[in-house]
Amino acid sequence: MKLKNSARINSLPVYKPGKPIAELKRELGFKDPVKLASNENPLGPAPSVVEKIKEAADMVHLYPDGDCYELKKKISLKEEILPNQIILGNGSNEVLELVAHAFLEVGDEAIMGEFCFIVYPIVAQLSEATIVRVPMSNLALNLDDVQSKVNQRTKVIFIANPNNPTGSRSTRREVEIFLEEIPKNIIIVIDEAYAEYMESENLNVSMLIEKHENLIVLKTFSKAYGLAGLRVGYGMATANLVALLNRPREPFNVNQLAQVAAISALDDEEHVKASVELNKKGMSYLKSELTKMNIKTYPSYANFVLIEFKSEARIVYEELLKRGIITRPLENYGLLNHLRITVGLESQNVKLISALKEVV
Ligand SMILES: Cc1ncc(COP(=O)(O)O)c(C=O)c1O
Repeated sequence: MKLKNSARINSLPVYKPGKPIAELKRELGFKDPVKLASNENPLGPAPSVVEKIKEAADMVHLYPDGDCYELKKKISLKEEILPNQIILGNGSNEVLELVAHAFLEVGDEAIMGEFCFIVYPIVAQLSEATIVRVPMSNLALNLDDVQSKVNQRTKVIFIANPNNPTGSRSTRREVEIFLEEIPKNIIIVIDEAYAEYMESENLNVSMLIEKHENLIVLKTFSKAYGLAGLRVGYGMATANLVALLNRPREPFNVNQLAQVAAISALDDEEHVKASVELNKKGMSYLKSELTKMNIKTYPSYANFVLIEFKSEARIVYEELLKRGIITRPLENYGLLNHLRITVGLESQNVKLISALKEVV
């Protein structure tokens, strides 16, 4: 019997994750592949966090705290906001989904960049909203162009700052001006998944959510905190808005080990600093080597760099795989000549550059 699914599901964009290391090991027999495909932290989690996870392991027969009391308390201290201004998610991806559940329906428009994080169109389309794309010249999102797309039907605006997959960003000042100019009945999501790498340009959330009751700022433990495998991220907004996001949330959406790990990760800001430092050095090495090789790089304020070839990048991707290196092709973003490369450990970056020298 052929199952009939809804047209809405058939037409969803497909999220293609970076190839898992285990898959490359299975397929090509590599002992130690290098994965530079998913913007993970090459240093891994802080050792202190791993200890806490081990200690918590024998409690996993119990349901986690569905309200994430301790974790919210810790985040509230860091961000200088109240615990009821925080919504926790199974990754910030889940918070994006909650935004769409809570605010988007048929007839609404959701604005997003031409080359934006692919989860935005997925969640918008699941809610049957109309997607409005903002053209991105030079692959950077201009907030005036976003504003020009606003109309009576606009309900949600999704902006990643810095943007994935391009690495571009708007300054803090530009975002603040944008927030002033957008009507208050439109939800604005500023997704700061890569906030830590941007350092001085990330938003003063406590001040802004007081001022803008339509603002949601997202952050995650998946990148600089090195906890992508545990799935935990959060949104910050007024208590009213957070209460609405909580309505469609599943009861125990953030698991016990993720909560313990995130609490402990917030105690180890040194690990984050070391990760950001490593990224800075790696980024400057990669950019200078790639430029020497005449490969175009785009300015990036995150932990990855977007590169462009003169022809389709798929062959370079495949050749790198044969050399045990996983990068991210971007065909599903419509970027055929591009690869996105996560900044790795020094040895991984060197390996990538020497492999690219062979291939290109
Ligand atoms: C811009 C952006 N937002 C959100 C996420 C989702 O992060 P997570 O669900 O792991 O918190 C990512 C992950 O790559 C991202 O690049």
